[in-house]
Amino acid sequence: MATKHSYMLCGLFLLLIADRAFSIIPEEEQSPTFWNVKGKEAINKALNLKPNLHRAKNLILFLGDGMGITTVTAARILKGQLAGKTGEESVLAMETFPNVALSKTYNVDRQMPDSAATATAYHCGVKANYGTLGVSATARRYQCGSVKGNEVKSVLHRARMAGKSVGIVTTTRIQHASPASSYAHSANRHWYSDSDLPPEAVQGGCRDIAYQLIHNTDINVILGGGRQYMLPKDTSDPEYSTEKGDRLDNTNLITEWLKNKKNAKYVWNKAEFDAVNEADTDYLLGLFEPKDTRFELDRNPDTDPSLTEMVEKAIKILQKNPNGFYLFVEDNGRIDHAHHATQARYSLHEAVEFDRSIERASQLTSELDTLSVVTADHSHVFSFGGSSERGNPVLGTSFEVALDNKHFTTALYGNGPGYQIVNGTRPDVNNTISTSKDYLQQTAVPLESESHGSEDVAIFAKGPMAHLFHGVQEQSYIAHVMAYAACIEPYTDCQLEVVPHDHAISMHFGFLVLPLGLMLSLLSVM
Ligand SMILES: *[C@@H]1O[C@H](CO)[C@@H](O)[C@H](O)[C@H]1NC(C)=O
Ligand SMILES: *[C@@H]1O[C@H](CO)[C@@H](O)[C@H](O)[C@H]1NC(C)=O
Ligand SMILES: [Zn+2]
Repeated sequence: MATKHSYMLCGLFLLLIADRAFSIIPEEEQSPTFWNVKGKEAINKALNLKPNLHRAKNLILFLGDGMGITTVTAARILKGQLAGKTGEESVLAMETFPNVALSKTYNVDRQMPDSAATATAYHCGVKANYGTLGVSATARRYQCGSVKGNEVKSVLHRARMAGKSVGIVTTTRIQHASPASSYAHSANRHWYSDSDLPPEAVQGGCRDIAYQLIHNTDINVILGGGRQYMLPKDTSDPEYSTEKGDRLDNTNLITEWLKNKKNAKYVWNKAEFDAVNEADTDYLLGLFEPKDTRFELDRNPDTDPSLTEMVEKAIKILQKNPNGFYLFVEDNGRIDHAHHATQARYSLHEAVEFDRSIERASQLTSELDTLSVVTADHSHVFSFGGSSERGNPVLGTSFEVALDNKHFTTALYGNGPGYQIVNGTRPDVNNTISTSKDYLQQTAVPLESESHGSEDVAIFAKGPMAHLFHGVQEQSYIAHVMAYAACIEPYTDCQLEVVPHDHAISMHFGFLVLPLGLMLSLLSVM
């Protein structure tokens, strides 16, 4: 009896679910014409895709720290749902890039990688050991003496040497592993300021990352967090009077950086940032927090610029160089750190903001002369699945009930601080709870910090030589393609021509003709 009753209930439940699903799914998707037109459109696009064999004048590398493919899918759905849609059908800016490859992220000494060694791979083209940055795998973590002679140079550095302007924009501290690998060489990613150096490292002549930021490469635009590693230990932070600098060498690296530079500005808040006139600024250092900047969801728009605003400012300054520019854009603090805390809500909102900055950069540059690459350094043990109807809130629950008669969210983690099993039981969850501000998704294994994932991540690319991104590649390949596309070291003999001006104009007209042909061919489908 009970079984029959529950079957009936279950049937009723499924019927209700089905009804709800059909009330929200887009009407047109029920027609085969919709999918056939869409398919034909995509075929046309693919047939019209011609490799851009020109030399890249500009290079932009967007790095979503910890942005595995699961995160990309969930961020796409969140973007659509924030716009009031079901979400699955929405399209991220990065997804519109025509060339895609997979990146193998392992470090030379580890299966599960970290952000320093992976950054060495995609910045410098050489794989490294876990926790080390800007050095080959001959160097060992924590061993200052192993750095000398094993330094590897980033594409950013080589682009500067080739006469391009270069910039770094990040939501973390600027000395953090991902940006640091573009300008520093360190046996340990955590040697942010000289107060972080152990005595052996000081005796061995190793320099902290903040020191290297202003001494190694002449970087035009530096935007992010990390004031405290630049200021002497008795100097108060301008924004938080209780915070002080970290440096023991009594040096203010911000004033050092400004010395002997023309048209250079330092800013630490939104008002100063907004006041920067790109036309008369060639060097800009913006440090908006003592450490990492705040999560996008917690950002105060009156005091701190968004990632998109920073990217826009950076491009406008760098673009003035007739030789072109190299820009590194990272959303690290935020996608990665929130995943480590098993807070999917924060992480996915960060990923959506990251994508917005990619869209803005695309508006400010041309695909004809700018190679844009979007990738991640590594993934996370973030999973997204479990029976869910169309349009299910990305942070919501599955309609299936688990064997313990409790509900579960479709976003879960393999491990991390969200572990909630007490004496063999876990708490129930509903959409109100799982979409609340500080909710931690449940995990199978308790860890203080959720771990990185070891699976491949995606590379999305567009612009000159973007078609070289294909297949499954070592992560270090990214630096090689970027250097090759721009004909910079070690590919100065690449033989690629810069896009001629008149050709650029005719290609623009080509884009106008394409939609017309597309419309005609679509008519024939219907
Ligand atoms: C879990 O079990 C322990 C030992 O039996 C008990 O002391 C504790 O109160 C239990 N905790 C909960 C939340 O049930
Ligand atoms: C979700 O669960 C909480 C805690 O049990 C409860 O207070 C709340 O009413 C539930 N919300 C819904 C919509 O069921
Ligand atoms: Zn991480």
